[in-house]
Amino acid sequence: MLSIAIIGCGGIARVHARAYSNLGDRAKVTAVADIDYTAAKELARITGAEPVANYREVLSRTDVDAVDICLPHHLHKQVIIESLRAEKHAMCEKPMCLTTQEADEILATIKDSKRMFMPAHNQVFTRGVQEAKRLLNAGELGRVLFVSTQDCFVNTGITGWRTKKAQLGGGELIDTGYHPTYLLNYLSASRPRTVYALGARHRIRMEGEDTAFVTLGFEDGSLGSIHSSWAYENPNFAPLFSVVCESGQLTGGHNNLAVKNISGETSTRTWPSNGDSFRSEIEHFIDCVETNTIPLQTAEDGKRALGVIQAAYRSIELGLPVTLS
Ligand SMILES: NC(=O)c1ccc[n+]([C@@H]2O[C@H](COP(=O)([O-])OP(=O)(O)OC[C@H]3O[C@@H](n4cnc5c(N)ncnc54)[C@H](O)[C@@H]3O)[C@@H](O)[C@H]2O)c1
Repeated sequence: MLSIAIIGCGGIARVHARAYSNLGDRAKVTAVADIDYTAAKELARITGAEPVANYREVLSRTDVDAVDICLPHHLHKQVIIESLRAEKHAMCEKPMCLTTQEADEILATIKDSKRMFMPAHNQVFTRGVQEAKRLLNAGELGRVLFVSTQDCFVNTGITGWRTKKAQLGGGELIDTGYHPTYLLNYLSASRPRTVYALGARHRIRMEGEDTAFVTLGFEDGSLGSIHSSWAYENPNFAPLFSVVCESGQLTGGHNNLAVKNISGETSTRTWPSNGDSFRSEIEHFIDCVETNTIPLQTAEDGKRALGVIQAAYRSIELGLPVTLS
């Protein structure tokens, strides 16, 4: 049984705690840490774990095997690095960190560490995405020509650290928009080369953008787009993702997938639920620790998503397309 410490006991930590509670004897939450001791005590009440105010206390405990980092974005890099150096396996909520430079520091630490690190890219674990990836890998639809991903919803809960650029790392794009970014990278067959982005603050009182629209050109000539917003629902009820290939097209959500081939034949699959992507992600993390295998998403994938986001922010600032190095 893997002994886990959750660091950061806010909103998403509760979702993770629920997932651990459904894993039977595979994992146990031993300690929970939050600078706000009341929040730690509340999560401790739900999980039966021991609450602490200082996360370094859990890093020095010998009865903790792994940490699950659920902190504000500006703290991710530091706590990932400290956790690996303290010989804990680590999973960190999105975004992995704030920049590709921070990602490089994490990658260097991983190289020197005997422990496993996984960025928590939960949307990769949904049924629709996994089935789309299986079909793309099978290659029956031919070459990928265009990938679009989106995540737009009205978010009325933006307060505190999320309103500050220094703590969030930007605006909505590096928060919710990080999901469609790693998803785009996961579903595309090539690497992004050119990024041209627009940002806007339509509705929310925050320093960064509450809406971003990113267009991309990939190395192999295929194209892509990312649309994410906290100001409105998906325009035209656009699906979570679409992948257009030479001989057909995939359109999907967390729990559904439609496949239309070039002759117009369509098939659709719907699953009763998305299978709880957080539970699947956490189970995958535990599997990888136990079997010493490389996770489906690695720190390199985190860096790749941040590369696109950083280029998008640069493009918004310049009003010009930006080429990724
Ligand atoms: N995967 C998803 O769909 C999803 C959804 C929501 C949030 N998240 C991610 O989860 C992370 C946390 O988001 P949240 O919504 O739970 O935020 P939150 O503000 O609800 O919780 C953050 C917690 O961290 C604590 N904290 C701050 N500084 C600390 C420190 N130095 N030491 C210990 N604790 C400290 C705060 O007191 C707070 O309780 C973010 O990275 C966010 O992007 C992911």
